[in-house]
Amino acid sequence: MDNVELEILDLINDPVIIIDAKRTLRFINKAAKLIFPGKSIDDDLVAAIRDPGALKAVDQILKDREVEVRGRLTLSAPVEQHFDFKVSLLPESLGELGKAIMLLHDITRVLDAEEFRSAFIGDLSHELRSPLSSLTGFIETLQGPAKEDDNARAHFLQLMENEAHRMKNLIDDLLSLSQLEAEEHIRPSQKVDLVTLASSVILVGKQKALKRNMEIRLNTENVVPSVLGDSDELRRVIRNLVDNAISYGEESSIIEVSINPIDLVYPAHVHGVALSVHNKGTGIEQTDIPRLTERFYRTDKARSRETGGTGLGLAIVKHAINRHRGDLKIESDDIKGTTFTFSIPAFTE
Ligand SMILES: Nc1ncnc2c1ncn2[C@@H]1O[C@H](COP(=O)(O)OP(=O)(O)O)[C@@H](O)[C@H]1O
Ligand SMILES: [Mg+2]
Repeated sequence: MDNVELEILDLINDPVIIIDAKRTLRFINKAAKLIFPGKSIDDDLVAAIRDPGALKAVDQILKDREVEVRGRLTLSAPVEQHFDFKVSLLPESLGELGKAIMLLHDITRVLDAEEFRSAFIGDLSHELRSPLSSLTGFIETLQGPAKEDDNARAHFLQLMENEAHRMKNLIDDLLSLSQLEAEEHIRPSQKVDLVTLASSVILVGKQKALKRNMEIRLNTENVVPSVLGDSDELRRVIRNLVDNAISYGEESSIIEVSINPIDLVYPAHVHGVALSVHNKGTGIEQTDIPRLTERFYRTDKARSRETGGTGLGLAIVKHAINRHRGDLKIESDDIKGTTFTFSIPAFTE
């Protein structure tokens, strides 16, 4: 049975366990019960924690009478979690209540964030390095073999301009992403008309679409309410989706941008607006769909590079839609083509 005096430890969000001189569990607070389901008083500590480092730390306290030992342990069930732990000797005056106390602090999210950051920096360095290596190569060519050749010089300068442009796009997208992350918890507050916004994005995209003999159509069958948003961000979202439809859609096909009022599923019973961008073409593999909004995730690296993509477009879309408390849905198959739909709450006075 749990000790009444110790129940105050249930108020702590971190797991706390107390063991006696024989390493038997004497108390498990509520947070610890969540990570050690099914373990109870009178079990040996090893029934809950098998990590050799943690067991050794407990022995150092119980047998060697050390005062405090710290370390890190991993639990693999029910889900993998990482903890910093501290085991301390309890005062003799506590008697039968227990001999040692173990405090755990969940650091899974911190470690995940560190892992994410280092993977991101690795990817980013790679992405920046590739246009830079091309530039260096072109400079060498201009200094050597192409030095006196006017035609070659013009050609290489054009290639250099493209690579420099690619780096600029990448840096612009990175800045947008970091700004979005910083502001993600601040709700946008402007009244924005998505139909006007989409029309202007389509007007700009027309030239690029024509190069692939594509046409962009805007469908709005209903009266569409304004949304609560940030017009620059929403413009960027629509532009990224339309750009992708032009880049990855089938040549000589029609891209359809549709805007309609809807009742949102989440937050429930709130009026909203859905905007979808549809293109024909080879579908995206179902297993790739959930990963498309990850930074630098591309299904076809060569095609992305060819079209000047940064691999950050959909990551920006996802963050911007999150900031708008909205929802992004991706549907794709070879027959129907690909549709990206976002829905966000309508503006209310
Ligand atoms: N409409 C689409 N049809 C097919 N694939 C798409 C479409 N939109 C995006 N993708 C895939 O998602 C990847 C990520 O898109 P995005 O984040 O915009 O990066 P990129 O800079 O490569 O366009 C693209 O490289 C492409 O593989
Ligand atoms: Mg893109």
